[in-house]
Amino acid sequence: MRNNYLFAGCLALAITALAGVRSMAPSAPAGADPWWKHAVIYEIYPRSFQDSNGDGIGDLNGITRRLDYLQELGVDAIWIAPIYPSPQVDFGYDISDYENIDPKYGTLADFDRLLAEATKRNIRVLMDAVMNHTSDKHPWFIESASSRTNPKADWYIWRNGKGPGKPPNNWLSTFGHSAWQYNPKRDQYYYHYFYIQQPDLNWRNFEVETAMINMLRFWLDKGVIGFRLDAVPTLFEDPTLQNEETLAGKNKFGDPNQETKLQENLPEVHGVIRRMRAMINTYPGDRVLVGETYLPNVTELDKWYGGAKHDELELPMDMQVGFEPKLDAHEFRQRINDAETKIHGNQPLFVFDNHDNPRTAFRYGDGVHNTAIDKMLAAILFTTRSTAMMYYGDEIEMPTTPPTSKDQVRDPIGITGWPKEKGRDGERTPMQWNASTSAGFSTNPRTWLPVAPDYKQVNVEIESKDPNSMLNWYKS
Ligand code: GLC
Ligand code: CA
Repeated sequence: MRNNYLFAGCLALAITALAGVRSMAPSAPAGADPWWKHAVIYEIYPRSFQDSNGDGIGDLNGITRRLDYLQELGVDAIWIAPIYPSPQVDFGYDISDYENIDPKYGTLADFDRLLAEATKRNIRVLMDAVMNHTSDKHPWFIESASSRTNPKADWYIWRNGKGPGKPPNNWLSTFGHSAWQYNPKRDQYYYHYFYIQQPDLNWRNFEVETAMINMLRFWLDKGVIGFRLDAVPTLFEDPTLQNEETLAGKNKFGDPNQETKLQENLPEVHGVIRRMRAMINTYPGDRVLVGETYLPNVTELDKWYGGAKHDELELPMDMQVGFEPKLDAHEFRQRINDAETKIHGNQPLFVFDNHDNPRTAFRYGDGVHNTAIDKMLAAILFTTRSTAMMYYGDEIEMPTTPPTSKDQVRDPIGITGWPKEKGRDGERTPMQWNASTSAGFSTNPRTWLPVAPDYKQVNVEIESKDPNSMLNWYKS
């Protein structure tokens, strides 16, 4: 049973957080009022939303089947995490063909049908654009790795080592250990900010930019409304390859803590973003670029809009609010106020949850008032001027269910970092639709990740009948 007294207390906290926020800055560009300023964007992790063929993995036809549900919920756009052919080392973020669909998820014809059915319901579709790296199985990388002289030799970041077994510098992968991998054919190292199987593209080679822009056009021509640009601050690295500064202590992978100033958020990236924006502006229908922009502060965030020029991303994600470490009204007010006053009247995009972080109750909950806290955070998300971005399952208060032993882990960082880093499986469990087999996610009792144990009480069917449920809170 929910505690309404405590809930009222938390709502008061939300109101306190909002009360200090100053009046709206003028919105830009003048006169324009595109759909995305009033939108709810719903992130779908496709492996976990709805399985249609009983293999225990979600797919495109499954998403199509659930579009009526999303329409009723009030969703204006869905962002689908990567569905392209991929060896699935990083569950789709390692792409081996940018212009096709992984057979696990369906076909291009299934995609076209999904897009057409979504359009009928006034739901727009955003693709996930992974621009920083490809899979090591992408034909571009296979060619690039084959010699020092092939036509794509310079499409990735190749460097000589400092001697036998010695990488070019101390740079670390954010997924653990050295960011350099030796390749005997070239007798050189390639750079990977993420997994070894995700080599970074060389964005200083204009052929790379051209190929990527053409890839975006392929999907825009099909009618997608835009993109969520994956890990986009990582496109460029400092060419001098100086070492990053080492800090005190060790990280979850046992590596020394280090700065990432030479590996992330270099100013050159803004030129690419401006060219991308100019390209999407040639398409009709208010296309949009959303950015996965984890940044140190609001001043850096403002740059991703193009500041007063408004010529870069329409919606770089504001990670300052939703990933604020403490549940503290003063801190929340400060961050919301920043978004109102320090981004040149651009449109904020708040986000509290995604497929890379434990869900809010896990991060902010105290185990007693979790539901009240989640309702309060939803109130902030949906009542501020910000565009709202939510993650599948938030609307039913799906739990975070991390693996309890190393042999259960599917996400490779959870294997490298166990037990300090358990990986991201906990926030990627199958959607809980009802109390039947596999929570109605699949007819298969064995799903790619186990269904969270609370699915008999926490599911769409039960919550739609309960006026006090999270689902009805989200709807209202
Ligand atoms: C982004 C994605 C994450 C992925 C990484 C590498 O941060 O959200 O899931 O592992 O990029 O592509
Ligand atoms: Ca399936």
